[in-house]
Amino acid sequence: MADTKETIVEGVEALTLNGKPDAEPVETGTDAQAQEGATAAADEDVVDPWNVASSSDAGVDYDKLIKRFGSSKIDEELIARFEKITGKPVHHFIKRGMFFSHRDLHTILTLREQGKPFYLYTGRGPSSGSLHVGHLVPFIMTKWLQETFDVPLVIQLTDDEKTLWKDLKVEDAIKLARENAKDIVAMGFDVNKTFIFNNLEFVGKCPAMYQNIIRIQKCVTFNQVKGIFGFGDSDIIGKIGFPAAQAAPAISSTFPFLFGNKKVHCLIPCAIDQDPYFRMTRDVAPRLGFPKCALMHSTFFPALQGAKTKMSASDQNSAVYLTDTPKQIKNKINKYAFSGGRVTVEEHRKLGGVPEVDVSYQLLKFFLEDDAKLEEVRVAYRKGEMLTGEIKKLAVETLTPIVEQHQAARKLITDEVLDKYFELRPLQFGS
Ligand code: TRP
Repeated sequence: MADTKETIVEGVEALTLNGKPDAEPVETGTDAQAQEGATAAADEDVVDPWNVASSSDAGVDYDKLIKRFGSSKIDEELIARFEKITGKPVHHFIKRGMFFSHRDLHTILTLREQGKPFYLYTGRGPSSGSLHVGHLVPFIMTKWLQETFDVPLVIQLTDDEKTLWKDLKVEDAIKLARENAKDIVAMGFDVNKTFIFNNLEFVGKCPAMYQNIIRIQKCVTFNQVKGIFGFGDSDIIGKIGFPAAQAAPAISSTFPFLFGNKKVHCLIPCAIDQDPYFRMTRDVAPRLGFPKCALMHSTFFPALQGAKTKMSASDQNSAVYLTDTPKQIKNKINKYAFSGGRVTVEEHRKLGGVPEVDVSYQLLKFFLEDDAKLEEVRVAYRKGEMLTGEIKKLAVETLTPIVEQHQAARKLITDEVLDKYFELRPLQFGS
C-alpha cells in the first residue's frame, strides 16, 4: 500500500476540520486549544459529536452547516425523485426539513431503480438508561426507510465509546446498551431484517469486525483524527482509535453472516453531528475496495429551554423522557418549553407569536403528523390567535400518547425477544 500520509488527503473529499482543509493540524498546545480548533470560529455555531451550541434562539444555521461540512441539501428535486422511485410521499421528517442534508442519496436511489441491494446502518451511544423523545427521531426515520425500501438494517450500540468518554465502567456500559436496545426494539423493527450489536461484545464474536477496524486504523493518522475530531495530546488512546469502530459497520465485509463477501452499499441516517465519523469513513472505504457510505443528516432536537442546544440525556429538565409520566410531561412542557409568545396576552394578540423559536411548535413539527393541522397551528400562533398556553397544551396532548405507547411496547420486550435481534444470523433481503 502507498504511504497513507500522502494518499489520504487526495480525492474529492479530503478529510476536513469542520469543513476546513486539514492543512495545519494541531501539533502542540493544550487539549483546550485542540478542542477549540475542532469546533468553530467565534461567530459560528458549534457542532461536533460532543457539542451543539448556537447563539441564536432559532438554533443552528443549517444552510451554513451544509456549506461548512460540504454535504448537499435535500432539496425539492431530490424529494421528487425519491417519491417517484418509492411510489409514495416522503416521511414528514424529510418533507419538513428535519432530515435536511445528505451525501450520495442519489446513488442509493439509482441502486433502487436498478434493483440492486443496499443496507441501512445507524446507531446509538448508550450513555444513560433513559432515552428522551429526541432519541426516537433517527430511529423513526430509519424504520420508515427500512419499510419503504425493504432492506436489512444494522444498529450499532457504542458501549465502547461511552466507556471511553464518560465515567462509565465497561460492565455498566454493556448493561446500558442492552437497556437502550429494548427501547429501540420497542419501536417495532422487523426482527427478520434487523441486527443489533454492542461493540464491547460483538468484536469478540465477529473477527471480521475487528479486522476491518484495524484496516481502517491503518489508513488514518493521528494528525487526521486531531483535525477531524479535535483530539489532543493528552486524550486517552482509546478515543483516538475509536472512530474506526464507528466506521467499520459502513463496510459490508464487517458482517460476513449478512453479506458474505459482497460489496454492498450502505445508507446511514444520523444526526448531522455524526458526520465527522463518516467523512473519515468515506475517505477510507474506497481505499479498502468498498463503496462510500451514503448519508442522510437530521437537525438537532431542541432542548425544552430552546434551540440554542439540543435535548440532553444528562439534564433532567431539558428533555421529555420516554419514562416520564403524563403529569411529568405536562409539568415539564408548561414550565420549561421555551416560548415564542409575547409577554402579555394583549401584546401577543397584537403582534403574534414566533413559531420558529417556540419549542412547543418545534415539538409539534416533529411529532404532529397531520400537515393541515400543523399549518393551522403555525398560522394561528403567528397571528396571535393561538396563545402560548394553547400551543403548549397541544404539544402535551401530542407527546403524551407517544410516550405512553412506547412504555407499553417496551414492557413486552423480554430478554428472549431482545436476544433474537443480537443473534448473528442472515437477514432477509426483500419480502
Ligand atoms: N456515536 C453515536 C452516538 O454517540 C452512536 C453511533 C454509532 C451512531 N454508530 C452510528 C449514530 C451510526 C448514527 C449512525 O450517539
